[in-house]
Amino acid sequence: MDITGIESVVAGVADLAEARRFFEIYGLAETEAEANKARFEATDGSSVVLRQLDHSSLPPADQGVQLAIWGVAGEAELERVAAELGRDRPVTRDADGMVTSHDDDGHGIAFRVTKRRPFAARKVGLNVAGLPPGRINTRADFDDHGPACGMGHIVYWSPDPERSNRFYVERLGFRTTDRFEGNGGVFSRAVGHKEHHSIFFLGRPGQPPAFQHLEFGFPDVQDVIAGGHKLLKAGFVSRMGPGRHEAGSNWFWYFDSPLGGAVELSADIDIVDDDWVPKVWASMRDAAGWHTSFLPERSRP
Ligand SMILES: [Fe+2]
Repeated sequence: MDITGIESVVAGVADLAEARRFFEIYGLAETEAEANKARFEATDGSSVVLRQLDHSSLPPADQGVQLAIWGVAGEAELERVAAELGRDRPVTRDADGMVTSHDDDGHGIAFRVTKRRPFAARKVGLNVAGLPPGRINTRADFDDHGPACGMGHIVYWSPDPERSNRFYVERLGFRTTDRFEGNGGVFSRAVGHKEHHSIFFLGRPGQPPAFQHLEFGFPDVQDVIAGGHKLLKAGFVSRMGPGRHEAGSNWFWYFDSPLGGAVELSADIDIVDDDWVPKVWASMRDAAGWHTSFLPERSRP
């Protein structure tokens, strides 16, 4: 299955205005703005669709991420996915041809011919020792970050990550790239997506499956630091970071988000192909790498 990666999520939010404020500062561009709906997108067209929930009839299950939309390489691949899923679960088609179903944990999933578009990379002004300067007589600008380049991965809590991951590997052809011992978590990537992971199931025994976080890639670590700093100044809550993972190598900073889990700023994640050698990490702590907890007294005013 030539699945090209996750490229959109649809989420219900209790406070659309606050959710708009979050994603604007985070580094996405608002492309649709209605009274009860908003759409934000990254440079490559990957998107977050927000729907204002009706408080008077608000089942908890409708809050947060409701649907993860995956791109596929073409119409033939879309038909293959629809046929595969139709073997054992309901599949619906909308007017645009999008195929909607659910995974083995009950998470809403959908597939469409990819709408991701190529884009020109922004110049990164890094001074690397031994190479010609990338930035001369110019300071790093803490107001300069983003926009986000594209959605990279989604992460779910799972009471049984190996079981949750098996659906994506066995039914959708994903490749597992790393895992934690003792069924603590599993990373996998869609075949047409070359980043370290497109999806990650993080173990949480005895608890129901749930959305954990969503990640967008930015051009470089400057965006992670400056973007995170802007979110802090705007009053949003840092959950972890800034730091750098060992599993995936990416720079990261996680913030509580209106999606019912965290949203991650990320840069410089490992690019892999089928020559990648998966590793079994002892634990989440073992793979988390270096990170600092945010210390409020050290932030700029
Ligand atoms: Fe992540």
